[in-house]
Amino acid sequence: MSNASKAGTFLLGDRSVNRMGYGAMQLSGPNVFGPPKDPKAAAAVLREALAAGVNHIDTSDFYGPHVTNQLIREALHPYAQDLVIVTKVGAQRGPDASWNPAQSPAELVRAVHDNLRNLGLDVMEVVNFRAWGNMHSPADGSIEEQFTALAELQRQGLIRHLGLSNVTASQVKQAQGIADVVCVQNHYNLSHRDDEQLIADLGKQGIAYVPFFPLGGFTPLQSETLSSVATRLGASPLCVALAWLLQRAPNILLIPGTSSVAHLRENLTASDWVITPDLLAELEGVA
Ligand SMILES: NC(=O)c1ccc[n+]([C@@H]2O[C@H](COP(=O)([O-])OP(=O)(O)OC[C@H]3O[C@@H](n4cnc5c(N)ncnc54)[C@H](OP(=O)(O)O)[C@@H]3O)[C@@H](O)[C@H]2O)c1
Repeated sequence: MSNASKAGTFLLGDRSVNRMGYGAMQLSGPNVFGPPKDPKAAAAVLREALAAGVNHIDTSDFYGPHVTNQLIREALHPYAQDLVIVTKVGAQRGPDASWNPAQSPAELVRAVHDNLRNLGLDVMEVVNFRAWGNMHSPADGSIEEQFTALAELQRQGLIRHLGLSNVTASQVKQAQGIADVVCVQNHYNLSHRDDEQLIADLGKQGIAYVPFFPLGGFTPLQSETLSSVATRLGASPLCVALAWLLQRAPNILLIPGTSSVAHLRENLTASDWVITPDLLAELEGVA
C-alpha cells in the first residue's frame, strides 16, 4: 500500500482520490511569485508525490502566476490516468506580487483557459470558485454571477466538476442552486476551527472538505500542547496536525503544501499516527 493511500479514499465528484493529497502552492518562488530557486527540486517534489500514491493535486494559475502550473505540466505531463488536478479561479497577481480579486465572469473564463493552457489539459477535472471575502476568511455576499459563469463553462465541457473556496454555508447553498458542488476548500486546521458545522453538513451530502493552510500556512503551527502530544506519540508536531485532520471527519481531504521532498515524505506518514481520545481531548486546547 502506498503512503498516500493508507489514509483511505474519498469521492471527488465521480473520481476516487486518496485522502492524502498535495498542495502545489509552495513550489513557485518566494511569496508564491516567480520561479523557484531550484526548478529541478520542485519537479522532484511533484514526482515523489505521485510515486508515493498522491492522486489529488491542488493548484492555481495565480501561483507564480502561471509558474506552478507550468512546473506541474513539465514534471508530470502526460498525466497519470488516476491523477485529479484541482484548480481555483478568482484572483490575480499584481507585478508587485500582490493578490487581487479577479471575479468578473470574463476574468473567471480567462482564468479557466489560462489553467487549461498552462497545465496542458483540454478539460479541468475540478475548478473551485475562490470567493474573495476577507482574503483568508469568507464574507457573505452573492456569488451567483461568478458561479453561473463557471457552470456555463461546465455545460460547454471545459470543466467536469465545480467546487468553492473561502465561502460561507449560505454561499454553498446559493451555489448548489446553480450547479452541483463537489468540494469546499476553506481555511481550517487545529487552531482555526470556524467550519466545524460546515464540515459536518458537507459530509452528510458526500461533499469533500479540503482545508487550506492545514499546517498553519506560511508560518506552520506551533503550540506547546501540540509538541507535547507529538512527543508522546513519537511523531512530529506537523504530522500530528495532519493526523488530527484525518481523524476529524472522513470527508476531509488533505493538501499540505511543501517545497521539500523530505517534508513531503514526512507529511505522507500522517495516517500512521492514531490519536487516542485522551490526546484528542488535549489537542482541543490548541484551538
Ligand atoms: N483556496 C485558498 O485560498 C488557498 C489558500 C492557501 C493555500 N491553498 C492551497 O492549500 C495548500 C496548502 O496550504 P499551504 O501550502 O499554504 O500551507 P500549509 O500546507 O499549511 O503549510 C505549508 C508550510 O509548511 C511547511 N511545511 C510543510 N511540511 C512541513 C514539514 N513536514 N515540516 C516542516 N515544515 C513543513 C512548508 O514549508 P516547506 O516548503 O519548507 O516544507 C510551508 O511553509 C496550498 O499548497 C494550496 O494548494 C489554498
